[in-house]
Amino acid sequence: SPSDPDLVERARAAKEKLGDKVFVLGHHYQRDEVIQFADVTGDSFKLARDAAARPEAEYIVFCGVHFMAESADILTSDDQKVVLPDLAAGCSMADMATAEQVAECWDVLTEAGIAEQVVPVSYMNSSADIKAFTGKHGGTICTSSNAKRALDWAFEQGEKVLFLPDQHLGRNTAVRDMGMSLDDCVVYNPHKPNGGLTADELRAAKMILWRGHCSVHGRFSLDSVDDVRARIPGVNVLVHPECKHEVVAAADYVGSTEYIIKTLEAAPAGSKWAIGTELNLVRRLANRFAPEGKEIVFLDKTVCFCSTMNRIDLPHLVWALESLAEGNLVNRIEVDPETEAFAKLALERMLALP
Ligand code: 13P
Ligand code: SF4
Repeated sequence: SPSDPDLVERARAAKEKLGDKVFVLGHHYQRDEVIQFADVTGDSFKLARDAAARPEAEYIVFCGVHFMAESADILTSDDQKVVLPDLAAGCSMADMATAEQVAECWDVLTEAGIAEQVVPVSYMNSSADIKAFTGKHGGTICTSSNAKRALDWAFEQGEKVLFLPDQHLGRNTAVRDMGMSLDDCVVYNPHKPNGGLTADELRAAKMILWRGHCSVHGRFSLDSVDDVRARIPGVNVLVHPECKHEVVAAADYVGSTEYIIKTLEAAPAGSKWAIGTELNLVRRLANRFAPEGKEIVFLDKTVCFCSTMNRIDLPHLVWALESLAEGNLVNRIEVDPETEAFAKLALERMLALP
């Protein structure tokens, strides 16, 4: 829907008043009404790097979800303030791994006698606590655009990987990109004693996958791939690696949001695409590429927006920008120094991946 002209004008005026003091980052899943005010857009990897590359901005307004704002705070200097326009913009996947659960899991791995062989690899979509755990235990962070490189690195450091919190990204990367088999992977369920696994199962596994998933991408099904192929002959199916393994295995192309955009930019006129990722992005791409004769449809009509990404709307952005312009620091996201130190270690290992 078109944005309220009054709010558009207020956002523009507040941004102009703030000038170079503010830098607005927008994740690709944000609403159009918000994206129009982003100084840069990107996937979570690009935004993490972009946040770190703006030392002159006093305020980083992060239009995305909580874990992204935390990562920006960790990677920017202490006098830069990161603001999340709505504090309720969390991520259900990140919430699926708590610090207590992960500490308990490490005890289980220690009991099984394998903790020294295990390198944690945590998806960007995790809390600062989980990133700190990862840094403390010699591991790295990854995003959907560098998961293979992160796993390559981790298997140079140890024999096994504990992959947190997205089981699908972990499994898809291991099987699709690293040539492992499904049998090399086990799933650790934090709600069951010992993760629901025996010590022998843990010893035999190469990939220990945390039982977390994305509530949006987890809903794309193999049926939706079959249906779209039947409906649109010659369609290319392009999905995000947070989708289930069977969906990824049936797709033609798999990659991060940034990869999805680049692939469509390079696609020839007349090509047809079904995209399995968040709806705001798919709609924007469909509108952008329609004039070039590229037909882009959403992979599954029953899947909806990421509700927490959508919490950042124009009214929240206007409120945050106007508050900052009036000198009121609102909705600051600040990671405590000890957590930050270890989380930063893990994030810097990611940024240093070849
Ligand atoms: P990327 O932007 O890294 O592709 O991640 C998608 C996502 O779900 C972020 O929440
Ligand atoms: Fe989290 Fe999924 Fe939403 Fe991304 S799309 S923020 S992983 S719930």
